[in-house]
Amino acid sequence: MNIILLGPPGAGKGTQAKRLETEYGLKQISTGDMLRAEVAAASETGQKIKGLLDEGKLVPDEIIIAMIESRIEQPDCAKGFILDGFPRSTSQAVALDDMLQKKKISIDAVILIKVPTEELVQRISQRVGDDGTRRADDKPEVVRSRLEIYESQTKPILPYYEKDGRLKQVDGLQTISDVAHSIDTILNACNN
Ligand code: AP5
Ligand code: MG
Repeated sequence: MNIILLGPPGAGKGTQAKRLETEYGLKQISTGDMLRAEVAAASETGQKIKGLLDEGKLVPDEIIIAMIESRIEQPDCAKGFILDGFPRSTSQAVALDDMLQKKKISIDAVILIKVPTEELVQRISQRVGDDGTRRADDKPEVVRSRLEIYESQTKPILPYYEKDGRLKQVDGLQTISDVAHSIDTILNACNN
């Protein structure tokens, strides 16, 4: 089973993707985590994109699309994957469909986790990573910019997934376990 999780910064994409990984044996593919790993490793790509991540701006499509293409080919994705943070613009959504068509891979569910802006700001201001550190892009001014980019560049892809009935929505204001339950209900319906 292959899933796309959509939603604004702080909606809970990563939280839910990690649970789906454990419970369904799928692989989380978080473009944000992959990009932060490049920055931490100070790779050539990492050095190129550090400034964009720090400012909350989108990394160029060619970097992201190549990254996704090689990732989904890896054996640990054979049972299925969860895209977390990709696609993030109409051009990425179109590129993804082209790529999947060529590889004869289909997406079983596109799930939008909906959360109002005030709650997102609150959640991100309190988020601390597993290692006890805070993300460089979680500073209030960068969060504002990430939210604006979500509105202007990512939200416009919703009609792309809505038009063929692929888009399902869950209320992300529920507790983490209730969001998980709503996602399970969608996935169970896909399997039948
Ligand atoms: P990315 O890492 O994808 O960040 P994001 O989309 O801004 O989302 P977050 O990771 O902040 O939030 P989340 O939805 O995962 O929420 P979480 O589960 O942590 O991208 C970072 C950057 O990388 C981008 O700005 C861009 O520069 C670049 N990038 C990434 N992908 C790209 C692409 N495709 N193209 C170009 N550039 C790209 O939850 C948030 C908090 O809320 C946590 O503390 C959690 O515990 C809590 N929480 C979760 N669910 C609930 C709940 N139901 N109730 C209460 N609290 C909850
Ligand atoms: Mg995340």
